[in-house]
Parts: sequence; structure tokens; C-alpha cells
Amino acid sequence: MLIRNAHIVNAFDEIQGDILIRGRHIEKIGKNLPLGDLDVTDVIDASGMLVFPGGIDPHVHMHLPTGAGFSSDDFVSGSRAALMGGTTTMIDFVTPRRGMSLTEALRLRIEEAAGCLIDHSFHVSPVEWTPDTALQIRQCIAAGFPSFKLYMAYKDAIGIDDAVMEKVMQTLADAGGMATVHCETGDEVDKLRNELFASGQSGPSSHPLSRPPHTESDAVAKAIAIAEKTSCPLYIVHVSSAGSIEHIRKAKEKGLPVMAEVCPHHLLLDESLYKASFEDAAPFVMSPPLRSETHRKALWDALQTGVIDATGTDHCPFFMSQKERGRDDFRNIANGAGGIEHRLALLYTFGVREGKISLKQFVDLCSTGAAKIFGLYPQKGLIAEGSDADLLIWDPNAEETISAKTHYQNSDINIYEGIKVYGKPEVVIAGGKIAVSRGKLNEGLRGELLRRPVNQ
Ligand code: URP
Ligand code: ZN
Repeated sequence: MLIRNAHIVNAFDEIQGDILIRGRHIEKIGKNLPLGDLDVTDVIDASGMLVFPGGIDPHVHMHLPTGAGFSSDDFVSGSRAALMGGTTTMIDFVTPRRGMSLTEALRLRIEEAAGCLIDHSFHVSPVEWTPDTALQIRQCIAAGFPSFKLYMAYKDAIGIDDAVMEKVMQTLADAGGMATVHCETGDEVDKLRNELFASGQSGPSSHPLSRPPHTESDAVAKAIAIAEKTSCPLYIVHVSSAGSIEHIRKAKEKGLPVMAEVCPHHLLLDESLYKASFEDAAPFVMSPPLRSETHRKALWDALQTGVIDATGTDHCPFFMSQKERGRDDFRNIANGAGGIEHRLALLYTFGVREGKISLKQFVDLCSTGAAKIFGLYPQKGLIAEGSDADLLIWDPNAEETISAKTHYQNSDINIYEGIKVYGKPEVVIAGGKIAVSRGKLNEGLRGELLRRPVNQ
């Protein structure tokens, strides 16, 4: 395949040229490349378009078991939605039940993802400390899964305490792994949730009250302190508050290997949405919750100044019927929201078009940053000779109004309902094959399981 007249955007530069793809890889980049043995039908003219590396979403939860049933996208429907929005790689999670080994849970999860349309990998979650945990962690790393997710919240199910976090981080530091952490002080959140419910405040407006910004920033400070003590690389997921940003900024200034992610919903949606009726507020119940303008501004500043390294979606959609489970008790509302399909369009519209971030920063935040952090670079996150041919031919002028009626995510909810976005992939190339062309999806694709190297 030959892409002609491409305006190629990488995280470090923008160049004009042709891209020759052979098999899964980019073979050559140059001006006026010869057609060689290709047919004219193998040529795509990208004039007027932008060409980006395929999006990488490092934080998705397909078919996640929860008290409200499974999150509603599985690996097939979720990867379909990903492709439609320009995401060609995703990293999901292995979340065992307590009592189950990490390696067995990893094996089952790999099987579950077999039908995934895009390249994918996993972070593994130790949800307890047993005599075998350190060995199992080392086995997961040796198998190509060196990133681990620790939950400081959800103590009743998958959350761990600080002592276990320290043991896990020490094991990771010694074995070349890294920790990704959901930072919320779980015990305090549980106490607040129970107090609010006991006082009769049972609706969704109690959700943000039970998880105020300091419950995140205190946890961020704690996670950074343990990471520093154990010399463990740390990636903080879905950062939502100004206080957390301050801790992360200071850690980076100290030279600690601390990285952070932000989700589009925390950048774009306001906490006032929780004040609506149950039907209108419950879709926004996710953790951490939406925040005020002050926090959103701090997140945008952090994106602009490099305190945030990557964006992820925390894609965890549910149907309204699953949210209904918490109609009389906000603690039972299905916790999470979808987002994998529109991350790039939202960042392009409200970041690039509004002049908050450059095109290069956009590529860094949607693809390159995650590729570097999670051991996928330069295979992914880069348009260069030898890299995987995961490319977006992006129409900067396409317009769409986001709606659950038209999206590909498997849910009757879209938290961005009615928001108009600009920019969309006209063509998505994944692993050297056309995955999407002018809104039409190639259902025949199968993504590869990505095994990743240990941290250097
Ligand atoms: O509300 C959320 N974020 N649900 C998914 C699980 C998590 O915390 O990442
Ligand atoms: Zn989380």
C-alpha cells in the first residue's frame, strides 16, 4: 500500500511525504516514492489530510466483572468502537478474584480477548498478597506483561492496603516491572459513602461528595512515596484533581520515574452534572468523579506542560439498566463510562482546534506517550521505517455530533451525548491492513497479543 502526499505528524516533528507499507510494517518514507510492483488501486491519496500513528489507549476495561454485571463492551464490540475512532492498540486488565493466581487469570484473559480486532496487551492486577504473589508477578513479567495495576480504592473486592502495595512495588522494582495505580484513599471513601447513605443522601449527587479531590491527591502522595521508597516506576491512572497534579509535578522535578494519565471526561465534563435527576446523573458515576472548573483547568495546564504523559479512557461502559441497580442507593450504581470511540476526536476538537495543544502534543498524548511508557515504542506510537503500519488518515474537517444512537460502543449511554466534535479518521490502517475506510469497518481483522519487554 502506498500513501501519497501525507502530512505526517509524529510527536517530535511534522513532515510531508509518501509512506510505503508492506505486510505489517512501514517499509519506506520519502518524497515521490515509485509505485514499483504496486497497483494504482493500492494507492491512497492523503492530500488535505493529516497522518497520525494509530491511537493507543492504555486504560480500558472490556467485559469487566462488577457487582452490576459485566461492563457492556467485550473485546470484539469494544475494539470495533476503538477502530472507528482511530485507536489501533489497547491495554486492558487482568483482574483475578481473590484466591485465583495471576498467571491463571492472565491465561484466561488472553483467551477471552482472542476475537479482539486490534492489537492488545494487559496490565495484571495483584488483588492480595499470598506466599506465591512475588513468583506469579515475575512469571507475568517473563511472559511479556511487565505492567501491573494496583487499586487503592474498592477495598472490599480488589483494593489493597499500603503494606501490600509496598511489597508489590518492591517485587516490581527488583524484576523490571512497573506499577500503575488507581489512587483514591479507599477506607476514607468507604466511610464517606456509608455516612452519606446513612444520612439519607442516597442519590447520585452523593457520589462526588464521597470521593472529594483530597481522597485522590492524598492517595497520589502515598503512592509516590512508596514508589520512591522501593524505586518502582509508577504510572498514575485517571488523574482528576489539581492537588494530584502538584504531587506529580514535584515528583517529576525530583527526577522520580512517575508518569500520569488523564481521561477526556475529567478534562471536559463538569461535576454539576451530578445535580440532575437519577436518569441524567447516573451515567456520570465513575471513579474518580467529575470535578469542578478549577481542577479541569489544572489538568489542561498539566497536559500543556508535560506533567501528564498520556491520555486513556478508562473505557468501562454500562447500560442504563445496570446504572438502575443503584436507583435507591448510589453505592450500587454501575461504576464507569465508555469513551474509547471518541478520545481522539475530543482531544483534537477541544485540545488542538482550541489551541490548547499542538498537533505533535496530540500525537504524543494519544499514542507516543503510552507506547514509550509501556514498552511498545518504536514499534508503535511512531510513523517511521520499520514501525508497525498502524496509521490514521485523519480528516481535520469532518464533523460529528456524538450520540449513543449512532456510536459503536455497546451501550445506550454516551457521556458526551450531543457534543459536536471535529476531526475523524477517514481511513484507519491497522497492522498494514485497511481497518476502516470512510466509515466502513473491516470486520475480518484480528489483532495481535502484544508481549512487552521489561523496563530498562
Ligand atoms: O469508574 C471506573 N473508573 N470504573 C472502572 C474501574 C476503575 O476504577 O478503573
Ligand atoms: Zn480506576
